[in-house]
Amino acid sequence: MRAWTLNSAGLTLSPSHPLPSAGAASSTSPSATTPPTITGNNLLLKIAHASLNPVDLHILRLFPHWLPFRRNPTPGFDFCGRVVSAGPGVDANEFTVGDVVSGALGAADVFWGKGSLAEYLLVSSSLVAKKPKTWGAGGKEVTGQEAVGLFGIAGQTAVLMTQTAGVSSAADWKGKKCLVNGASGGVGNILTQILKGKGAEVWGTTGSAEGEELVTRCGGKVVNYKTHNPVTEHLGRLFGEEKLDFVFDCAGSQEMFTKSPGYLKTEGKFISIVGGASQGVVPYIRNKLRPVWLGGTPRAFELLLLIPGKKTVREVGMLVEEGVIERGVVDGVWEMEELVKAYERLGSGRAKGKVVVRVSE
Ligand SMILES: NC(=O)c1ccc[n+]([C@@H]2O[C@H](COP(=O)([O-])OP(=O)(O)OC[C@H]3O[C@@H](n4cnc5c(N)ncnc54)[C@H](OP(=O)(O)O)[C@@H]3O)[C@@H](O)[C@H]2O)c1
Repeated sequence: MRAWTLNSAGLTLSPSHPLPSAGAASSTSPSATTPPTITGNNLLLKIAHASLNPVDLHILRLFPHWLPFRRNPTPGFDFCGRVVSAGPGVDANEFTVGDVVSGALGAADVFWGKGSLAEYLLVSSSLVAKKPKTWGAGGKEVTGQEAVGLFGIAGQTAVLMTQTAGVSSAADWKGKKCLVNGASGGVGNILTQILKGKGAEVWGTTGSAEGEELVTRCGGKVVNYKTHNPVTEHLGRLFGEEKLDFVFDCAGSQEMFTKSPGYLKTEGKFISIVGGASQGVVPYIRNKLRPVWLGGTPRAFELLLLIPGKKTVREVGMLVEEGVIERGVVDGVWEMEELVKAYERLGSGRAKGKVVVRVSE
């Protein structure tokens, strides 16, 4: 099979460490590797699409390819493909050969280098959901390139964020005022759709015209952080009287949390997924543990880390079937050979939806 393997020093996007270009491409081009063998409750998938996430870049930067446990690793978390065969432990009522399934690998698999940018992938059946045929009942067909990001890290993280809000019933979401910071990104656009689909009032920040169009299409009201700078002052004007119930931060803004008493209710929650350079240690201590009398911000703060799994991946499937999520937003589709270009697009921080790679037909 064809798979991407990493066998030269990692991918960094700073000007002093440019991306591997044509010269280095020979060491990172698709190479022949051995197909995996099937065991336990695993599924062997023929992968059609993979999609990329910012965490891929962190792993490429932080974990050398020469570590003994990850020699020539294959990167990538998200996958969508067809079941080629199923291990003896797989429940035949759940998955059979020919099903199209999608999901995200766990961090351990990717650290060990068994990522999704490979034509064949062995994956635990607990990490996948069947791709719904249509958007809602009888809607348009859900394609593999749309599904891969939804069932991957981005969609599962959006689900985790809504679950963390602690709103127990659909009726309780009605009229809740929510701000999604970074609403045009891979996670943000899905989160915007879910919140809107559940009946919340949603505002989404973006700094571009394409982002504005996307946020609107996903059901959000636009807050442009470039035309309203500093955006926190604008939020104070917008929500000073009637404050927000939730701020969901998919862009990583410490100032947005520190200033949140100006626009977030006293009992509101600030839910972030961006840990920053300290991998979350600094914001966790500063925002969650620091008491108000030591300068802490008097608002509840949650910092989440997604562990992909059955609960979140299958919830994505239900939300698509129920018509709560109405679209999979694809920034672009790159061929397998164009992976470096796809990573460059992701690394630009400007992707509108998911960066998708076509792995095979
Ligand atoms: N904790 C977890 O488990 C977890 C899981 C998934 C992702 N994450 C993290 O969440 C973040 C978002 O991930 P993603 O996949 O959504 O990224 P992404 O798709 O690469 O996000 C790109 C988008 O971010 C927007 N953006 C950039 N700077 C912004 C700012 N200052 N304010 C508002 N929007 C801004 C851009 O919109 P404009 O061009 O319009 O500004 C662009 O559309 C990343 O840091 C990622 O590492 C964490």
